[in-house]
Amino acid sequence: MTEGKVTPWDVSGTIDYNKLIREFGVEYISAEQKQYLLELAKAKGLQEHIFLRRGLFFAQMDLSEVISAHKAGQSIFLYTGRAPGGSMHLGHLIPFLFTKFLQDLFDCNLYIQFPDDEKFLFKKDLTQSKVDDMCQSDLLDVASFGFNIEKTFIFRNSEFIAHMYPLVLEVSKRLTFSQARNTFGFTNDSNVGMIHYPALQITPTFFERGFCLIPCGIDQNPYFLLQRDFAVKMGFHKNATILNKFLPSLTGPAGKMSASDPSKALLLSDDAATIKKKINKYAYSGGRETLEEHRKFGGNTEIDVSFQWLYYLFEEDDMVIEQIKKNYESGSMLSGEMKALFIDKVNAFFSDFQARRVQCRETNLLRTYMYEGTLAKAMWERTGH
Ligand code: TRP
Repeated sequence: MTEGKVTPWDVSGTIDYNKLIREFGVEYISAEQKQYLLELAKAKGLQEHIFLRRGLFFAQMDLSEVISAHKAGQSIFLYTGRAPGGSMHLGHLIPFLFTKFLQDLFDCNLYIQFPDDEKFLFKKDLTQSKVDDMCQSDLLDVASFGFNIEKTFIFRNSEFIAHMYPLVLEVSKRLTFSQARNTFGFTNDSNVGMIHYPALQITPTFFERGFCLIPCGIDQNPYFLLQRDFAVKMGFHKNATILNKFLPSLTGPAGKMSASDPSKALLLSDDAATIKKKINKYAYSGGRETLEEHRKFGGNTEIDVSFQWLYYLFEEDDMVIEQIKKNYESGSMLSGEMKALFIDKVNAFFSDFQARRVQCRETNLLRTYMYEGTLAKAMWERTGH
């Protein structure tokens, strides 16, 4: 198996999370931190989120600071983002689903950055007009998650830049080329836009004076590690992150779900028949070669993609998932049966999402998030730093 590779732009291979935690300078979510969040959820009448219970969100940086701030009644805000890629797939939903939970939990402001500039600068063959198309499509997807309409601001860097430029300058003045190069591995061939981009991704951590918590994939943490070097000097708090693991791609046991081959990923826009076909054809199975062997030795849930997704996202009931695991490992449940469970869950989830997307388009919700909501309006009125 190929050894895992994780950078803010590329995740592939089999990932050793123990090693990654050390390399990225973060820590596991502690039992106390988890307990605080789960108890808060209970107190608020929210579900104890499956991502926390089952450990898909597993690591953090300075989460205790945010928890202390929350206990003391200090102000907290959330920040996340997505480089527009066009077709969002199942894996892309994870940070946003969890962000929605955290916003309900803390009842706080949320900023969602769409770095269309990043996408353009980092992908050699992309034109700005192509990025624009992908961005429109992703924006509508992200607006369909049900974020608090008055407390959420969704923005594209290329459009909002004038209003954040003074802050961007404060950041870029404090970030040296050597820091950026050491962190992101820039070379003499990197274009200068790429080298400056980290300032853009860090800037929203300073949109408010309170404590910034960032739910995201662990691959994005390097930006926020840099922020801590100068946040306090700028008169702000250090940012905190809460980080997810990567679920396997449909075709393999590790890595991000590959968006580069949409024919082999479960796209939010796929219909039920397509989902069924893709899962039956491509979903990596932990089943045995032959029926006879499977019945005799049982399947491997650790590498079975359908099981992994059921475990981390779709099957909330602990008793049910335990039973599925037992049946599969004992050989009484077959690979096709596991896939059938997965297909049903994905389709129920997607049809729900697609209905919300239609509703979102019809009611022009995106415009509220971007321009007309309370937080959005306040942000467009800002000029200084
Ligand atoms: N760089 C991220 C990506 O490639 C997008 C992004 C921008 C982001 N700001 C963020 C991700 C803040 C997490 C948190 O998708």
